[in-house]
Amino acid sequence: MCGIVGYIGEENIKEVLVDGLRELEYRGYDSAGIAVLQENDIQSFKAVGKLKNLEEKTKGFNPHAFGMGIGHTRWATHGKPTEINAHPHLGEFSYVVHNGIIENYQELKKELQAEGVHFLSQTDTEVIVHLFEKNYKAIGDPFKAFEATLERLEGAFAVLLMTKVDPDRIYFAKHGSPMIVGNNAKGEIFFGSSDAALIGKATEVIYLDDGDYGYTSVEEGIKLFHEGTPKALNKKPLIGDKISAQKGGFRFFMEKEIYEQSDVIVDTIMGRALDNEIQFEELDAHFFDGIDLIQICACGTSYNSGLACSYLFERQAKIRTQVEIASEFRYKEPLLDPKTLFVVISQSGETADTLEALKMAKSAGLKTLAICNVDNSSIVREADYTLLTRAGIEKGVASTKAFATQVMVMWMLSLYIAQHKKTMTPEEIATEIKAIRRIPAAVKVNTRLHEKMKRLSKRYLHGHGFFFIGRDLFYPLALEGALKLKEISYLHAEGYPAGEMKHGPIALADAELFTVALMPRTVHYDKVKSNVEELSARDATILAISPERFELCDDYVHTYHSDHPMSEFFEMMVITQLLALEVSVRLGNDVDMPRNLAKSVTVE
Ligand code: AGP
Repeated sequence: MCGIVGYIGEENIKEVLVDGLRELEYRGYDSAGIAVLQENDIQSFKAVGKLKNLEEKTKGFNPHAFGMGIGHTRWATHGKPTEINAHPHLGEFSYVVHNGIIENYQELKKELQAEGVHFLSQTDTEVIVHLFEKNYKAIGDPFKAFEATLERLEGAFAVLLMTKVDPDRIYFAKHGSPMIVGNNAKGEIFFGSSDAALIGKATEVIYLDDGDYGYTSVEEGIKLFHEGTPKALNKKPLIGDKISAQKGGFRFFMEKEIYEQSDVIVDTIMGRALDNEIQFEELDAHFFDGIDLIQICACGTSYNSGLACSYLFERQAKIRTQVEIASEFRYKEPLLDPKTLFVVISQSGETADTLEALKMAKSAGLKTLAICNVDNSSIVREADYTLLTRAGIEKGVASTKAFATQVMVMWMLSLYIAQHKKTMTPEEIATEIKAIRRIPAAVKVNTRLHEKMKRLSKRYLHGHGFFFIGRDLFYPLALEGALKLKEISYLHAEGYPAGEMKHGPIALADAELFTVALMPRTVHYDKVKSNVEELSARDATILAISPERFELCDDYVHTYHSDHPMSEFFEMMVITQLLALEVSVRLGNDVDMPRNLAKSVTVE
């Protein structure tokens, strides 16, 4: 996702900022910018694309001597990745960079526009700088104006602000998005949205807490506040190397991404799952007019998420839904009807098979929708509509948080269609939204669970194969669990509908066949239980994942979030991801770059 840096000191400010942004490149971005304040003059530069484009633009700019600056790499969420939408955003005399999403920006924007403020960009961020300047004009004190601005912001944010009316300070705030401030013996001050940007520069850092805000200057140092009162500085020495900082202290990117799921799901639902309704500002009122079928097309993990959500589209939105592997769809000479909404799902937005299927559907006159994680990717550019999943860059080849956010977007989409078609009552929608808001807690990895999966994994390193079984939307989850395991452990694993065992696969059952049984309480528990008993009677080794204790299993992982099928789904998703991770680690495999696989498959 986006990256933030800031600096006060005497070094070449441009170089310090761009260096910091380079350390945050791993998070993914589609444009970048910096603003430098020296001698009461602010210079700002922005460029679409990679940092080298920004460097090209700033070639002749060499700000030696004392000053300050803020910088940003942007991963588009509100508005296209253009220069105008890139940060820093400016008002009349101030500049701001921001990570996160200001949920009430439309309300604030309308209010400011009514007072004559002119907006340049489509971003939510721009409201911050205009609101600050409005408050400053009314109050006359920059710090009080900054506090008053923060009071009006809803959502998640990490913010740095510089203003000509207070040219010695950088103002900062953190609420739901990470922000670190650091310094060194030379008196330089650094900001970063990850410590990767500060390593080698700052020697001590403060990891800000939600609700922290304040200002820094060379004379005053770091002034920190919380809920209106000064707060003591909890400085920690900054140690570590850059790669491990990028991994946030985790052993692998995949592990980090499993842990990140709780936070990125918050981003995915922000501004979309409102109190009593689902809102997608990317879709217009006529989006669903005349549609009587949803055709989903995708590959791998993205296919599995589509298959899972096809149950929701039919059940909640009461719309016929078909799901097809993109490489099959392309050559089957499909009969396409213009009353079909064609949905492609892709983390990268570059998967060749999915892109070609999308082009086919478009040329047949179908309305197309992309569920994608990368704005401005080929698939996003091709589709009529796009819903971004907001998972941030996914580095591990084995997809985890992309799957979680795809499912979340489609769950919200099925409710959005249900609202439109009135196939659910407002009360039912509100209940679903409450369930959506509990998902970040359901996917939070707790240490005991992770330790348990580490211990369990040692029993699953051999054998002649794994069956992952489940029913209903737990069948696609079983497919996904098996895909994860085989990708990074190189062990043979298949996902099956639990009821299908007796039609053939059960012939393989013996003690060396490991069955991972997804046994949710809320979805056909008794039926899955009978299927697992049949396997157990044939001596298969059973790992049961369930909120209900199951006597006949060999290993048992207890789940806790069983108040809604989707919370069971998401909690079990995390357990299967951790199982795959820990088996792979024990086998000594390269977790992030498994053999024979690429992150983005741009060939047929
Ligand atoms: C997932 O772990 C995979 N590496 C793979 O199946 C992936 O989901 C598939 O190649 C599709 O990629 P996409 O989502 O970027 O289109």
